[in-house]
Amino acid sequence: MQLFLDTASVTEIRTMWETGILDGVTTNPTLVAKEGRTFESVLRDVCALGVPSVSAEVVAVDVDGMVREGRHLRGLHPSIYVKIPMTPAGLRATRLLSGEGTRVNMTLVFSANQALLAAKVGATYVSPFIGRLDDQGQDGIELVRDIVTIYRNYHVPTKVLVASVRHPIHVLEAAKIGADIATMPFAVMEKLAQHPLTDLGLARFLKDWEKVPKG
Ligand code: E4P
Repeated sequence: MQLFLDTASVTEIRTMWETGILDGVTTNPTLVAKEGRTFESVLRDVCALGVPSVSAEVVAVDVDGMVREGRHLRGLHPSIYVKIPMTPAGLRATRLLSGEGTRVNMTLVFSANQALLAAKVGATYVSPFIGRLDDQGQDGIELVRDIVTIYRNYHVPTKVLVASVRHPIHVLEAAKIGADIATMPFAVMEKLAQHPLTDLGLARFLKDWEKVPKG
């Protein structure tokens, strides 16, 4: 499964990129607003690191506006994937943009039927927001399971990008189901590498090493 960071912080992205575990980045208007920088300057910095997949969201809500913004974003760098919201206008815009070869990430997906439609209009990624479903008492992971099953049934090439990830168990469950990608905040990605027994074990090894005669 590919691991993406869900952030617009170039510092966070650079840190994970240097570890070699990062496969891509997703951004959204809320994340960009936290950075106090222009959207394009953030995108240029992230793409310059060499990250191969960088999702950038349109803010227009009409078909023409989405297509215009999508073309502009795609033109900024070959690594850009255009994020389009799952609305009737978004479906039409996705069909047009993917027909031109633009890779579209259909975002704000909360049902399997929406994911079915994203696939029909040629989206490259579909992004089910599982944490937001959990927040309101629905099981986000069940949605991922349904989408993966449906896409397998029909040999759909659209990749399932599990979004709105809140903790490592979301990542684990998504991997067990066979989702293609999980995008997560920096803190969640950091936790994937951590285990208290690793820290304890290392501390003991280092302490014991002090008893080994040197020289
Ligand atoms: C995905 O592309 C979105 O940016 C993101 O995962 C939304 O997550 P949130 O529910 O934590 O805002």
